[in-house]
Amino acid sequence: MTVKFKAVVIDNQNEKFTRDIKEIDSSHLKDGNVLIKIDYSSLNYKDALILKDGGKIVRKFPFVPGIDFSGKVVESGDDKFKKDENIICTGFRVGEMYYGGFSQYAKVDSNFLIKNPKDIDAEKSMMLGTAGFTALQCSFAIKAREELLLGEKVNDVLVTGATGGVGSIAVMILSKMGYNVHAVTGKKR
Ligand SMILES: NC(=O)c1ccc[n+]([C@@H]2O[C@H](COP(=O)([O-])OP(=O)(O)OC[C@H]3O[C@@H](n4cnc5c(N)ncnc54)[C@H](OP(=O)(O)O)[C@@H]3O)[C@@H](O)[C@H]2O)c1
Repeated sequence: MTVKFKAVVIDNQNEKFTRDIKEIDSSHLKDGNVLIKIDYSSLNYKDALILKDGGKIVRKFPFVPGIDFSGKVVESGDDKFKKDENIICTGFRVGEMYYGGFSQYAKVDSNFLIKNPKDIDAEKSMMLGTAGFTALQCSFAIKAREELLLGEKVNDVLVTGATGGVGSIAVMILSKMGYNVHAVTGKKR
């Protein structure tokens, strides 16, 4: 099945960087074994670098950026994922080496995908995005340190970069986990 769709396409013809919304079709999606109709993506710091000029991260052009996305399975070459199932993709160099989420469709390796947890819908997962996922991993690391390494309750946690993508969500998660959170910022207000 060939589908036509819109995507953010960056290019670097004759060393001139361009960024446009273009109509392309699914024959451009050469990698992976699961075709996904994308519902949401998030804007990560890395995306901003790539959208500016490729950020020395993207090496092959033309290219579709977007390091994460959520959406529905359209076609699957892996029994683990069925048509219409909701999935999330983050990491695995999607949006850096493989066409990413700033698009209406993507095709990626099934090993890059997870099924949506039942309490997190497509929109919420990308409100948290890769930065939120990272913040959650950092928060779990503190919990693990408390329980496995120190063997005693940690009361106070210091979050640096607290106004940033990872830091701001870490403040929320750690507060919810019951820690006394101290947020550090270099900003005056
Ligand atoms: N975003 C992701 O998905 C992700 C994934 C894995 C790892 N990381 C890493 O996590 C870190 C934070 O990423 P981010 O996406 O949250 O970036 P971000 O949104 O740009 O936030 C970074 C924050 O760091 C603070 N900061 C800047 N320069 C600083 C300095 N010299 N000393 C102390 N604080 C400084 C700033 O906060 P103030 O202005 O308030 O001080 C800024 O808001 C980075 O090292 C990044 O590589 C991010």
